[in-house]
Amino acid sequence: MSTATVEIPIHQNVTTFLGAPRKMLIGGRWLEAASGKTFPTYNPATGEVLAQVAEGNSTDVDRAVIAARKAFESGPWRTLTTSERGRLIWKLADLLESHLEEFAQLESLDNGKPIGVARAADVPLAVDHFRYMAGWATKIEGNTIPISVPYTPGARYHAYTLREPVGVVAQIIPWNFPLLMAAWKLGPALAAGCTIVLKPAEQTPLSALRLGELICEAGFPDGVVNIVPGYGETAGAALAAHPDVDKVAFTGSTEVGKLILRAAAGNLKKVSLELGGKSPNIVCDDADLEASIPGVASAIFFNQGQCCCAGSRLFVEKGIFDKVVAGVAEDAKKIKVGPGMDLATQMGPLVSDEQQRRVLGYLESGLSEGAKAVVGGHKLGDKGYFVEPTVLVNTTQKMKITQEEIFGPVVCAVPFTDLGEVLQAANDSIYGLAAAVWTRDVGKAHRIAAELRAGSVWINCYNIFDAALPFGGYKQSGWGREMGHDVLELYTEVKAVTVRL
Ligand code: NAI
Ligand code: MG
Repeated sequence: MSTATVEIPIHQNVTTFLGAPRKMLIGGRWLEAASGKTFPTYNPATGEVLAQVAEGNSTDVDRAVIAARKAFESGPWRTLTTSERGRLIWKLADLLESHLEEFAQLESLDNGKPIGVARAADVPLAVDHFRYMAGWATKIEGNTIPISVPYTPGARYHAYTLREPVGVVAQIIPWNFPLLMAAWKLGPALAAGCTIVLKPAEQTPLSALRLGELICEAGFPDGVVNIVPGYGETAGAALAAHPDVDKVAFTGSTEVGKLILRAAAGNLKKVSLELGGKSPNIVCDDADLEASIPGVASAIFFNQGQCCCAGSRLFVEKGIFDKVVAGVAEDAKKIKVGPGMDLATQMGPLVSDEQQRRVLGYLESGLSEGAKAVVGGHKLGDKGYFVEPTVLVNTTQKMKITQEEIFGPVVCAVPFTDLGEVLQAANDSIYGLAAAVWTRDVGKAHRIAAELRAGSVWINCYNIFDAALPFGGYKQSGWGREMGHDVLELYTEVKAVTVRL
């Protein structure tokens, strides 16, 4: 852990924002919870309370759904042209960009991530995502379709499809990229013309609430975006089950994804899920190790390992296994772990004491079953929720740590001898979110990419994201794809219109 911590000065707007209890956004107004209750959000670097936030429950969810329904059915949102809709989304992106530093700080304080990462990745990616989706608002089209209708001989028809907004959408997001996940969810729903009730994670509600202020400033009509902070079991569950919500989009644990699915059954609302992962990262002996070693290290250690697509299972060809493991361990040792608001920090704390306990529990279980830590394996310091970057060897396919998502800076390294064997092992998972292969052999790289059962495959790179590229999971990693034009399917219904001529 870095000893000399020089934290950056807190932005005036951040101080102001944290200075008062934060309310929820319903129908264009900032309201207290109907119960009057608030909950604390913490700084994970210190464990101290950052701010108090209105605690939404089912009554607040009801109020927000009513506001979203009204905005969808009779508000000005419905009559705005697609061009005006696109311009509002673009304006939100501009506003967000002009407040970049403030959002980076809020994100670092609430989530724990290094300020440098929030400045370079979280906020700019969110801005870019809104811009990309702003462009789609004017490009969501139907088709004209020639039809034959054999049972009405002689009749002629004109048939076409309309792509319409799915309606009132519930969006439940996690804490690992709080602002970016809000952007991934809001951007396409707004472009499609839906209205929204967004529930940020209870660990990290702040950036979404500040974004709500910019949404009001941009001039979105009242009720188009409603933001209800609160706990999953209360606010989240009420949203997923709500009979007047047309669609629920969720990112989080596979366990809660299954609960969302059950809750959605009541009114058969549409469901999209972006869930856990246990992504394989394969290094072949013909890879460029100078690029691969830092590449596989950052694949697991980025964002403290709290990435659904983290490269948490490292498969290395036998002849180079020791060299690669030693290289990744060396990288792990060099990582400066410390508070996110320290400019020198490369890895911050985990998001919460609960997450720290969960990760330490996995470490204990793995080590007691015979895994060996080449580096790391413990918590770090006694203030904040830090865990050492950890490389484990001697793991077996049956261990909990190789099967389950750890969601912390912990990688299991396993040697392999041939491609058939490594592909079988890589695909031996209930998950299928991402995968990567490192090799100089182009043909082999594409053959492996084709065999991996995963929604994203990276070749000689990792964690490369773009608003234009679809992202989502095979198997129990989820339903549907976010980003790219694929995401528009999640927020639109297709209507076939037939005219007899
Ligand atoms: P979680 O799945 O409980 O939380 C994600 C979101 O779901 C939060 O907004 C939460 O309030 C909400 N939620 C929780 N229970 C709900 C319910 N019954 N109905 C509706 N919404 C509900 O994730 P948690 O507990 O914070 O983390 C547990 C594990 O989940 C992590 O260790 C990690 O493995 C995984 N996870 C995966 C993420 C991903 O990006 N795929 C993100 C966060 C966690
Ligand atoms: Mg949970």
